[in-house]
Amino acid sequence: MDLELTEEQQMMRDTARDFAQKEVAPKAAELDKTGRWPSEIVARMGEMGLMGVAIPAEHGGAGMDAISYALAMEEMCAACASSGVIMSVNNSLYCDPINKYGTPAQKERWLAPYASGKKLGCFGLTEPMSGSDAQTMATFAERKGDKWVINGSKNWITNGPHADTILVFCITERPAGGTAENPGGKVKHTAFLVDRGTKGYTQAKHDEKLGIHAAHSCTVFFENVEVSDEHRLGPVGDGFKVAMSTLDGGRIGIASQALGIARAAFEKATAYAKERKSFGTVIANHQAIAFMLADMATEIDAARLLIWRAAAMKDKGVRHTTESAIAKLFASEMATRVAHKAIQIHGGYGYSQEFAVERHYRDARITEIYEGTSEIQRIVIAANTLK
Ligand code: CAA
Repeated sequence: MDLELTEEQQMMRDTARDFAQKEVAPKAAELDKTGRWPSEIVARMGEMGLMGVAIPAEHGGAGMDAISYALAMEEMCAACASSGVIMSVNNSLYCDPINKYGTPAQKERWLAPYASGKKLGCFGLTEPMSGSDAQTMATFAERKGDKWVINGSKNWITNGPHADTILVFCITERPAGGTAENPGGKVKHTAFLVDRGTKGYTQAKHDEKLGIHAAHSCTVFFENVEVSDEHRLGPVGDGFKVAMSTLDGGRIGIASQALGIARAAFEKATAYAKERKSFGTVIANHQAIAFMLADMATEIDAARLLIWRAAAMKDKGVRHTTESAIAKLFASEMATRVAHKAIQIHGGYGYSQEFAVERHYRDARITEIYEGTSEIQRIVIAANTLK
């Protein structure tokens, strides 16, 4: 076992860190306060190869691996978790499944411009009445001649208000007599690519959230949206597997987001503890504070190793469902604990909007929810360990 990063991986980490610290971090507080969509950062991420890190160069990506992607995500999210999740949705929830399941023609049309950052993608699985129980969705695509007609809605769609294309999951088969409310047995799903501007595909205004304010999400609607079979990603009936295997990769991205947020909170807490004085010395000299920092450092390291393991398995083409779930579960809950301690170390200042740790605390919280709640990760892990 060799835990040394390759030269390319180190280069990706250093390049992403330099960009994130110089161009993104100085804007993070303003983006959080105003909730402004960071179009200039999205454009720069494209130029830097960050919108398709692990997508082959022939399809517009940077041609790196999943470990490099995790490293870049950590760096981006240490600077700005909003910018980081915009990047992760495009990389792992949109480009990755097209790279895996797309035909050559689909890759040319729907992958290359997105992996190179010229266009932006999003992922539509969740619905108002189906989040964790993803199979029970109501959105339906009906085969009519050589067309598919999609009706339904999806919500919490990160990048939804700005994305050029959505990868949307629909039921395409339910048992006779089944309805959206009561499918009446096992349903089959299929994935489709729907472009912005397609008649009947509309987006609501963006959601107001606790954190990641600049990463806009919204509800999207499909009203008799017609697409041809060329828009179908993967075989008819295999949509749920496409969604689940995509999330195996996506969860590495969100775990890396949590890691980046935690690292930022830890670095700020460490710097503060070395400056702030009480009882005649800097507070870092008090064991109560030093132990908190030691626990934070330990948990951050553990999360990083879990993420690298899952990413290394993805790079080897080995199924990594459980390892991704473990990494995401641990890293996301760890980020909340670390950000919580960072506020504690800052005392009253930590609760103030003048210090970034309160933003990290709010931003960390979503990582325990999206791309599968902690409870869903435990279901996935238990299903494997109880086999
Ligand atoms: N890879 C490939 N296939 C998989 C798979 C995987 N990781 N996981 C399951 N499958 C297959 C199974 O083998 C099974 O196939 P068969 O029917 O052929 O046997 C089929 O999918 C159904 O599997 P399950 O019976 O395990 O499905 P389930 O209904 O019990 O659900 C679940 C499993 C893990 C709970 C799943 O519903 C789940 O992950 N829920 C959470 C949804 C989620 O993460 N949503 C995130 C939305 S995206 C988002 O959040 C983006 C954002 O904003 C940034």
